[in-house]
Amino acid sequence: GTPGDLAGRHVVVSAGGTREPLDPVRYLGNRSSGRQGCAIATAAAARGARVTVVSAHAEPGVLAELPPQVDIVPVTTAMELHDAVRAAAVDADAVVMAAAVADFRPAEVADTKLKKHSLRTSGGTGEPVRQAAPVIPLAENPDILAGLVTDPPRQDGEHTLVVGFAAETGDADGDVLAHGAAKARRKGADLLAVNAVGTDQGFGDVPNAVVVLDAGGTEVARAQGTKQEVAEALVELIAARLSGRHP
Ligand code: C5P
Repeated sequence: GTPGDLAGRHVVVSAGGTREPLDPVRYLGNRSSGRQGCAIATAAAARGARVTVVSAHAEPGVLAELPPQVDIVPVTTAMELHDAVRAAAVDADAVVMAAAVADFRPAEVADTKLKKHSLRTSGGTGEPVRQAAPVIPLAENPDILAGLVTDPPRQDGEHTLVVGFAAETGDADGDVLAHGAAKARRKGADLLAVNAVGTDQGFGDVPNAVVVLDAGGTEVARAQGTKQEVAEALVELIAARLSGRHP
């Protein structure tokens, strides 16, 4: 790839892990570090793109490593990420959904800290008995990636390249690819980077290895190496697609 070949392009990258509040002090979250998204943002900026990172929670120091010209939009929840990604994507040439988005959120957020269920005295015996553990009703979050495909924020007739990530498990590459291909077709993203997790053979051997599928579930590329190397390979695919050079 030629450095500078993304000049004039706007690339939006979501990164990190959403946190869904339960009350003022508790949330449902995940272990996403934000590193893969930030590596993609850095690789796109290095090729001259204007880059917006919509960042849910990232590990300390990860956002600080972004080049200074990258715009950072901090968010907390999946709904905030949804709104911020769609707002940033109105003039985006590519959107890369690298964030780990909670599929569900607590249906209601308590406005005061929830108390541990109180002990109550049972009728008659005087022995304290615990109430059943509380159940937290959940509400479904929108699939942001799928929504970018079915209802594109960009309205000027230009196509926005939509790129997703999927972590798939399986005992063999074949399983992982079959799951990935089904997801690629379901979500309809232009590119889906499938990561094998918990595979003890094949591409899952390498800590950062992805197979990139197109919207039909067909393999278009493989990339492995550091997160930076995987990011550079993905940005190369994005640049190729944006310039009409299909791999
Ligand atoms: O379905 P799954 O969570 O495996 O899909 C992962 C991909 O979908 C990632 O690109 C993630 O950012 C995106 N996603 C999303 N909205 C959700 C859940 C996942 O955009 N609610």
